[in-house]
Amino acid sequence: MHIGIPRERLSGEARVAATPETVRKYLANKHTVVVEQGAGIAAHYPDAAYAEAGAQLGDAAQALGADIVLKVRAPDAQERQHIKPGALLVGMLDPFDAAGIAALAQTGVTAFALEAAPRITRAQSLDVLSSQANLAGYKAVLLAANQYGRLIPMMMTAAGTLKAARVVVLGAGVAGLQAIATAKRLGAVVEASDVRPAAKEQIESLGAKFIDVPFETDEERDIAQGIGGYARPMPASWMTRQALLVAERCRQADIVISTALIPGRPAPVLISAETVQAMKPGSVIVDLAVERGGNCPLSEKDKVVEKHGVTLIGYSNLPAMVATDASALYARNVLDFMKLIANADGQLAIQQEDEIITACLMCADGKVIRSA
Ligand code: NAI
Repeated sequence: MHIGIPRERLSGEARVAATPETVRKYLANKHTVVVEQGAGIAAHYPDAAYAEAGAQLGDAAQALGADIVLKVRAPDAQERQHIKPGALLVGMLDPFDAAGIAALAQTGVTAFALEAAPRITRAQSLDVLSSQANLAGYKAVLLAANQYGRLIPMMMTAAGTLKAARVVVLGAGVAGLQAIATAKRLGAVVEASDVRPAAKEQIESLGAKFIDVPFETDEERDIAQGIGGYARPMPASWMTRQALLVAERCRQADIVISTALIPGRPAPVLISAETVQAMKPGSVIVDLAVERGGNCPLSEKDKVVEKHGVTLIGYSNLPAMVATDASALYARNVLDFMKLIANADGQLAIQQEDEIITACLMCADGKVIRSA
């Protein structure tokens, strides 16, 4: 098959869907690859490296007009015009964006959204949410540390002792757990909250304290189990108790990293404006949930703002800030997914019955197959 790697056009998107390493593997599997000129530049993969790997270099129309198009983000209206009916598209296409998926369906493309892959052991190597959230959690702590006017570790100096920073992590999924681990490595005192009971052990195994909001009813306990590893919206009673505890912990904190998400829904509000107002001057909040409305109503998408003496960092695409590694991991995720749609002889071989394929398939033959 002929594989196309277009340059990402979304503002701020520095990642690329294939690296010279994965291009070599596609070629070894008897595919041909065309890479749009400049596709890897922002992630520090120069055209020459792709050419050396054996790819052809081409323009946008050639890359988007391939049999299989590998993207990071969903193609925009202009990009969609170049996609051939019947072509295959693989990327982070936002399965919850019904209008976007409908627009893709109209092109006649067969589109796979990698974020929709089930969180099962076999899918781990193609799990783009994990590979990217992991980097986002790491980068969030570094951004906070950079913004914070003090040091993170406890330090004893001849001029006196500096106290360790207190870091609160809200949401202990992939990003949150990496944020905990990174903050611990920097020497912070860390505590974290999550609704899923399974998170308690994971938080504690990283040396952080679990902010416990005990369940008071069977309904709360049941909903907290989540579904497919994901959280569900908790009853108002639990959210109110959590808000009180989070407010208290944030008042003591120097840095808050919030990552709480519920698939397909606005992010839960965990840090109210009043809580921000009560925080210490110079504190920093990194709101990783900003793309879905934010865990804090005062954070602003893609901006760093100061409110009530607290800096709120609202960058929505942290993986793009570490685009070289983010692309390397993403490209390997895509390569692994490709094994489910093409064989080692470069032929199309979609494993229709595979649960990963059925979960990721968004549209084919002009029709929306599944809209989350
Ligand atoms: P996510 O990005 O959807 O959400 C982040 C975190 O926010 C989750 O831990 C969630 O429980 C938490 N959250 C939601 N509402 C909250 C609230 N009100 N207060 C505090 N926390 C709240 O989750 P992510 O990182 O994508 O992970 C989802 C699940 O998938 C986890 O259970 C994770 O262990 C699992 N997983 C499984 C894999 C596998 O087996 N292949 C691979 C990666 C993750």
